[in-house]
Amino acid sequence: MKNNRVIIFDTTLRDGEQALGSSLSVDQKLRIAQQLARLKVDVIEAGFPVSSPGDFNSVHTIASQIKGPIICGLARTVEKDILSCAKAIKPAERARVHTFIGTSVIHTEKKLRRSQDSILDMVRDSVKLARKHCEEVEFSAEDAGRTGMDYLCRVVETAIKAGASTINIPDTVGYTVPEHFASIIDELFNRVPNIDKAVISVHCHDDLGMSTANSLTAVAHGARQIECTVNGIGERAGNAALEEIVMALKVRKDIFKVTTGVEARELIRTSKLVRDICSMPVQPNKAVVGSNAFAHSSGIHQDGVLKSKKTYEIMTPKAVGLKENRMNLTGRSGSHMVRSRLIALGYNENDVDIAKFYIRFKELADKKGTVYDDDLITLMESRSDADMEDKYILEYINVSSGKGTVPTATVRIAIDGKVYQEAACGDGAVDAATKAIDRVVDFKVNVENFHIEAVTEGREALGRVAITARSPEGLFVGKGTSTDIVEASAMAYMDVINKMARIKMFKRKNGKGKKQGL
Ligand code: KIV
Ligand code: ZN
Repeated sequence: MKNNRVIIFDTTLRDGEQALGSSLSVDQKLRIAQQLARLKVDVIEAGFPVSSPGDFNSVHTIASQIKGPIICGLARTVEKDILSCAKAIKPAERARVHTFIGTSVIHTEKKLRRSQDSILDMVRDSVKLARKHCEEVEFSAEDAGRTGMDYLCRVVETAIKAGASTINIPDTVGYTVPEHFASIIDELFNRVPNIDKAVISVHCHDDLGMSTANSLTAVAHGARQIECTVNGIGERAGNAALEEIVMALKVRKDIFKVTTGVEARELIRTSKLVRDICSMPVQPNKAVVGSNAFAHSSGIHQDGVLKSKKTYEIMTPKAVGLKENRMNLTGRSGSHMVRSRLIALGYNENDVDIAKFYIRFKELADKKGTVYDDDLITLMESRSDADMEDKYILEYINVSSGKGTVPTATVRIAIDGKVYQEAACGDGAVDAATKAIDRVVDFKVNVENFHIEAVTEGREALGRVAITARSPEGLFVGKGTSTDIVEASAMAYMDVINKMARIKMFKRKNGKGKKQGL
C-alpha cells in the first residue's frame, strides 16, 4: 500500500542557524527545540556537532531533553564528524546521523578535488561507519539539483546499499524548477534498483523563490520527507518554509493526498519564537505566518469576508494558531465594514447614522492611512485626538543594562496628578522598561508587533518605535520617537496604554454596548 504520511524534517537549528549573524546559545536552541516538539515535527536537525564545542553541546542537550521527534545531527563524510555526531545524539530516544557530500561536477572537481569514484568510496564508508554507531542514517547528495543523473543514481544506490534508510536530494543552490525537480525524483525511482529500501527526502533552497513548489512537486512524485525551516530561514535566500509546506499539504489535500503529523495550530507561536530568538524579522506579507497573512484591506475584500470568510480565506486563522483575521480600516474600507467594527466595539447599530459617520471616517482615513479602534471611538465621541489628555504620563525613566548586568528599569508615572514609582528587571532594556510600566498601570497589554526604525541618519539618529498591541478593548498602535530607543519604546508603550485607557473610560461612561450615535 502507498505510504501517504510525509515526514517533516526541521532544520531551523542547523541550516537556519547557519544563516544567522551569530550562533544561538544552548538555551536558545533548547527553547526552539521544545517548541518544535510541541509543533510535532518528526525530525529535529539540532546542529552540526563537529563544527564547534558549542554546537556539540547544543545537540547533546537537545538529544538528552527533547522527547518525541527524532534528533538528528549533521556530519560530513569523514570519520571525526561522524563520531562526534554519533556521540552528541546518543542520549536521544531516537537518533539519526545525517552525513553528506557534494556530488555535482562543480562540487567534486572545484570544492572537493576528488574523482567521482573516490567520492563513491567515501559515501559507502561513511554510511557504514555511521550505521555502526547509529541505527538510523540519512545520506545527502549535496547539490543533487546540478548533479548528472547517471552519477546521482550510482551515489544513491551506494548509500542505500551501505545502510542509509533516508536519501536526501538537496537542491542546494535553489536552481531547479518544479518540472526539472520532478524529473530527478522520477528518474531515481525508475533507475535505482534498491530505491524501495529508503525514504526519499528533499531539501530545497529558495534562491529562485521555488523551494516550496519544488518540495511539494517532489512529494507528488513520491518523496516522503521534506526538509524545511521555520519562517524559511537558511543559507542565502533560505530554505523551504515549514509553515508553507504544512499548510499547502493540508489545504490542498485533494491534490497531494498525504498527511503530516504537524500540529498546525502551533505554527504562529513557533514562527514568533524563531523570529524573536533569531532576531530575523518576518516580512508582513509572508505566507501563513506574516502579520498581513490574515488581514483584509480593500473594501471589496472586507465586504466579501463579512458576508462569508470563505470569499477571501482559504484557511482559517485558527488553523494556524491565530485568534482571528484582521480588517485594516483604511480609506478603501466600505461603510459596511466601518459599521461592523463599530458594533464590535460596543456601539448600538440603531444609534449610528452610518452615512454621516462614514464621511467623517473617510476624512480621517485620508489623513491617517489606517484607522485604529481608538481613532474610531474618538471620532464617535466627536473629539479630536489632540483634545484628549493622556491619563498616564511617563515623567521619568532610568534603564541600566550592559554586558554581565541584569537589565533593570525604574519608571515614574503620574496618574491624575499622583506620582507612582516602580522598578523591574527584564530580558533586555525594553523588556525591563515595559515590565516596570506594567507594575504601575493596570492593563493587560498583549504586544503583537514591535517595529523599530531609524528616521534620521547617523549615530544620533532618531529611533521611531511602533507597537501593535491587543487587549480586550481592541487593537491599538502606539508610537514613540527619541534618540534613545529604550525611551522611544517606553513612549510607544505608554501611547498604547493611554489609548486603551481612553476606550475603557468611554465604555464606562456610556455603558458597554449602549453608546450614543452621531
Ligand atoms: O543545502 C544542502 O545541500 C544542505 C545539505 C547539508 C543537506 O544543507
Ligand atoms: Zn541546505
